[in-house]
Amino acid sequence: MNLVPARSRPEMRERTIAIVGAGLIGTGIAYELAKRGASVTVFDRAEPARAASWAGAGMLAPFSEEMPDPAMLALCRASLEAYPEFVAELRERTGLDAQFLRHGTLHVALDERGLHDLVARAAAYAANGGEVSVLDRAQTLEREAAVSRGVAGSVFIANEAQIDNRRLGRALVAGCAALGVRFEHTDEFALETDARRVRGLRSKRGFVAADTVINAAGAWAGAIDGVPLAARVPVFPVAGEMLAIAVPHAFARALIWHGHTYLVPRSDGRLLVGATVLERGFDTRVTAAGLSALLGAALHAAPSLGTFAVVESWAGLRPGSPDQRPFLGATPLEGYFVAAGHYRNGILLTPITARAVADLVLDGRSDVALGAFAVTRTISQRGLTALEALAAAGASANA
Ligand code: GLY
Repeated sequence: MNLVPARSRPEMRERTIAIVGAGLIGTGIAYELAKRGASVTVFDRAEPARAASWAGAGMLAPFSEEMPDPAMLALCRASLEAYPEFVAELRERTGLDAQFLRHGTLHVALDERGLHDLVARAAAYAANGGEVSVLDRAQTLEREAAVSRGVAGSVFIANEAQIDNRRLGRALVAGCAALGVRFEHTDEFALETDARRVRGLRSKRGFVAADTVINAAGAWAGAIDGVPLAARVPVFPVAGEMLAIAVPHAFARALIWHGHTYLVPRSDGRLLVGATVLERGFDTRVTAAGLSALLGAALHAAPSLGTFAVVESWAGLRPGSPDQRPFLGATPLEGYFVAAGHYRNGILLTPITARAVADLVLDGRSDVALGAFAVTRTISQRGLTALEALAAAGASANA
């Protein structure tokens, strides 16, 4: 691992790069660029890593998430494999450990029919690269005693993991700062362009020239002012409500899934329960119906949770994409790049996105296969180009 500050290295590159969005994707890219000697400023309306990056559960679960296609699965698997080194290097550089834990995922079935469905899905998890075992009732309870005594059985995927995304956010911001990345907190900003290329960003504080601008604005990526129509992406918010329960030490170890609800045990004694999936615009309210659905499923899977205190509830906005794949790479506007639309997998895809986008910006190419994620791709499920999907969704550049 080479921790020599990039600025002192002879191959230092003189680039002025602005990143819009200080979430894990934006700070991850900033970190990779700064390691390679670039001059980077990250702009955000909010505190760094406080939107979806803070709200997520940190599940690194490419098999359980049932990816839409092989290209997405391959990208997610590659990012999962990059995680241990990514976190170790950040820890070495900053002293902050984001707690990568590979404790697997346990999908529980509470009746025979559910178990039959789970076992059918297990074959697909295994075919995709999951290290899968089917467990009977006794084996399930032996693995996770918190699960309902009425459990019929389970499917365990050993090679899935979790990260503490809030810690990862703090570590990335610290890593960026150590490498000289600047952070600008600014309320409103717009891209400035000429007929051919990007010129920089204008905010309330004035104009900042940049020869490269990277849109890593998460759920807001489709709504940045000043972006020409041909370079816009059809990214939209998908809300997810969550809650946390304070549980005794060692209550659970694996990620536990029951239907669409997941339980994520954290080392700080909280068990996260998530998440609803709601297309309702930029609305981060936590609703009674959302909490009721999450708690109902959680208590069904692990009834003993009912005796513990709910200590937190919150909602975040996933950056949705029409084909559930992110938009990664250059746009028709010279100097303007996008890294957005990661939907349910932004935390999982942080290491590979950071590396691939830094490659593209600095070298014009990457060894990461990015064809399926091109900004100008056809959105296969709807037979539309990304741009047509944007128009079909009626999105406004100033939403
Ligand atoms: N990655 C899980 C979720 O978005 O709910």
